[in-house]
Amino acid sequence: MKNKRKNSKKRSNKNKFYSKKTSKSVLDEIIRVDHAGEFGATRIYEGQIAVFGKNSKIGKTIQHMADQEQEHIETFEKLIIKNRVRPTAFLPIWNITGFALGAATALMGEKAAMACTVAVEAVIGNHYDEQAKILGADQKKLKKTILKFKEDELEHHDIGMKHDAENAPAYKILSKVITAGCKTAIAISKKI
Ligand SMILES: [Fe+2]
Ligand SMILES: [Fe+2]
Repeated sequence: MKNKRKNSKKRSNKNKFYSKKTSKSVLDEIIRVDHAGEFGATRIYEGQIAVFGKNSKIGKTIQHMADQEQEHIETFEKLIIKNRVRPTAFLPIWNITGFALGAATALMGEKAAMACTVAVEAVIGNHYDEQAKILGADQKKLKKTILKFKEDELEHHDIGMKHDAENAPAYKILSKVITAGCKTAIAISKKI
């Protein structure tokens, strides 16, 4: 009996080791945090557009990024429903802080708004990259989606760089604070 138990334990460990299946808890965390992040991104750009106006030159550039974020959030809204994932309880907070971050950086000027984009998109781009590595072979479609979105986020990052983000006032501090804020938001949204 003891031996039998031992063998079955061995077998299950072996299966675990060779398993290419993404666990439900990992999948839930990935979908929850990405849904939260994309929602936050739409709110940041909305905050910036509210300050600059959508018909200004910079407003149009931001609108292009906002349109892609809209596609991203709609995709994760569908995934939340399909996979029965509980969205983060912090959505109302990201709703306000996202918009406030966008509006505040826009009020500091175009370069500061772009510095915000650079910081946020760098964190999200890296985060998508890490997730793509974690996902098992059973989640090929989601992996493809995440890698496609990562390319969009890196494009946003590059748009920010092209718009002189690094010459924003207090760029280093601004960038550090926003990066830290994003990482905290990610840690919270994964679990809560
Ligand atoms: Fe996005
Ligand atoms: Fe983005």
